[in-house]
Amino acid sequence: MRKDGMPASVSGHSVGKMFLCFETKPAVGILLAFTLVMVIWNLQPYYEDLISTTNRCSATTSGANESLTIRPGSADVGGGVGVVTLAEQKLVNPSPPADPNKRTFQAFGNAAALFVQMGAYRGGPRTFAVVGLASKPIHVFGKPWYKCEWIPNNGNSSVKAKAYKMLPDWGYGRAYTVVVVNCTFSSNPNADNSGGKLVLYAYYGESSRKYEKFTAMEEAPGSYDESQYSPPYKYEYLYCGSSLYGNLNAARVREWMAYHAWFFGPSSHFVFHDAGGVSAEVRAALEPWIRAGRVTLQDIRAQAEYDGYYYNQFLIVNDCLHRHRFSANWTFFFDVDEYIYLPNGNTLESVLKEFSNVTQFTIEQNAMSSVLCLNDSTQNYSRQWGFEKLLFRDSRTRIRRDRKYAIQARNAYATGVHMSENVIGGTLHKTEKKIRYYHYHNSITVHEELCIKLMPPFAKMATTWINKLPYVYDDHMKKLAPAIKAFEQNTIGSQHQLHS
Ligand SMILES: *[C@@H]1O[C@H](CO)[C@@H](O)[C@H](O)[C@H]1NC(C)=O
Ligand SMILES: *[C@@H]1O[C@H](CO)[C@@H](O)[C@H](O)[C@H]1NC(C)=O
Ligand SMILES: *[C@@H]1O[C@H](CO)[C@@H](O)[C@H](O)[C@H]1NC(C)=O
Ligand SMILES: *[C@@H]1O[C@H](CO)[C@@H](O)[C@H](O)[C@H]1NC(C)=O
Ligand SMILES: *[C@@H]1O[C@H](CO)[C@@H](O)[C@H](O)[C@H]1NC(C)=O
Ligand SMILES: *[C@@H]1O[C@H](CO)[C@@H](O)[C@H](O)[C@H]1NC(C)=O
Ligand SMILES: *[C@@H]1O[C@H](CO)[C@@H](O)[C@H](O)[C@H]1NC(C)=O
Repeated sequence: MRKDGMPASVSGHSVGKMFLCFETKPAVGILLAFTLVMVIWNLQPYYEDLISTTNRCSATTSGANESLTIRPGSADVGGGVGVVTLAEQKLVNPSPPADPNKRTFQAFGNAAALFVQMGAYRGGPRTFAVVGLASKPIHVFGKPWYKCEWIPNNGNSSVKAKAYKMLPDWGYGRAYTVVVVNCTFSSNPNADNSGGKLVLYAYYGESSRKYEKFTAMEEAPGSYDESQYSPPYKYEYLYCGSSLYGNLNAARVREWMAYHAWFFGPSSHFVFHDAGGVSAEVRAALEPWIRAGRVTLQDIRAQAEYDGYYYNQFLIVNDCLHRHRFSANWTFFFDVDEYIYLPNGNTLESVLKEFSNVTQFTIEQNAMSSVLCLNDSTQNYSRQWGFEKLLFRDSRTRIRRDRKYAIQARNAYATGVHMSENVIGGTLHKTEKKIRYYHYHNSITVHEELCIKLMPPFAKMATTWINKLPYVYDDHMKKLAPAIKAFEQNTIGSQHQLHS
């Protein structure tokens, strides 16, 4: 068989199928396997491609490799059968070992994928990020690595690049861990804008023999636009929300959205990720903002197949980071029960100008009670917004609380839920006098009235201890409520049917 006898279209799939046949129908399999044996033998240059096309294929082919060496000279199909039977036995039905004490180990199925790609993005003229999940034990107990290759459309030879990986989920992963692969070429691999493909090689371990190879992304001819990677960016502020899950109260989502659309202003955009939390009601709350171009809602429900940390939130934030790395000056990461707030009359613009020499800053929380309201007969709480009536703040200081953060995404290579550990440039933590966030923990999935416990009027003036925790009255958010309601009305109109 000659090199060009090999169909140019032999793809991962057809090879995979051939092996499948081989496993289930030995007679046909023998023939096919032998053909393949010969093909592989005669096509050393293609061998690398063949063994790396798909999971099933590469796993089986590398097993078959040992039997290839038996009789390479035998070129005619009839004469080859004996050889192939050996191969077949090895692959399909291991013959009883000669040594009765030699045990065999038969593997069935594949419990975790080597790599599950969520996104691949260009991150500048010569750099790319591939964001996905990988089998965690492989990374914990082995040393898998990655390599990148650019295959240009213009017929020039491909170029390879060094890749490094980051595991940004702080060890929280379960069956899967989050992996961000950074591929940086020595120069723009698509400088002539003729397009091409970024191919990722994912190795199973330290050895370079066993790997999978797949196209991570394609750049269409003419689609590369260098100006995208330098300011000005499309927005000043981008919100990257992590996975939304659970039985969310649509009224709270509506309030959050109105508040932050107001807070961040017209040059901002919000990206939400629906991991099952976006019910019809929640969608209805977001719909006017989606129509107004302020919100993008991504359906990530398929993440449930892959057991990572908490609805794969670390995966989601990294995908959002890289997908929108050049969309905005600042990218904010926090949750839908959290409200960013500027104390002491600061403006967002002035605060961020002051922080502009750092890559990221973290934000301290005001932990609000989700059940305490004031006993005030002048108020009808069932009509009020959450942040309008939950006015008691846990006043403990010197305890560690989660922080949230904002980042100049172009300087980040990977990120986390509370901050990024993979940035170039400084991180600022001392921000509490400039910017904070109100956290209404456990309020977002409550559908009944939030005000469960009414505090006596004097609680407004003094610290009140409830269940051994000190609470103080804090109505900064309440004072903003009228302005935000008016803003919502002016921006998306009275189409909003929700109230609470
Ligand atoms: C396959 O066999 C050839 C020839 O013996 C050997 O050079 C090569 O390293 C083997 N490859 C694998 C993946 O075992
Ligand atoms: C990859 O890492 C390099 C620094 O090692 C950085 O300059 C580049 O921006 C990173 N690329 C992406 C897409 O994160
Ligand atoms: C293609 O390769 C040739 C020879 O290496 C080089 O001169 C040319 O610039 C390359 N073209 C592109 C578009 O990269
Ligand atoms: C965003 O970046 C642009 C261009 O660098 C700058 O003019 C603008 O002031 C920045 N805005 C904020 C809020 O940082
Ligand atoms: C609220 O205050 C009124 C009197 O102003 C009192 O009658 C009522 O019992 C109080 N409710 C609670 C739950 O403390
Ligand atoms: C409070 O508001 C609810 C809902 O709008 C309404 O049904 C109820 O009658 C009001 N209660 C009072 C005391 O005004
Ligand atoms: C940023 O600038 C402030 C002064 O405005 C300075 O105190 C701080 O050290 C600078 N931080 C970095 C990381 O350069």
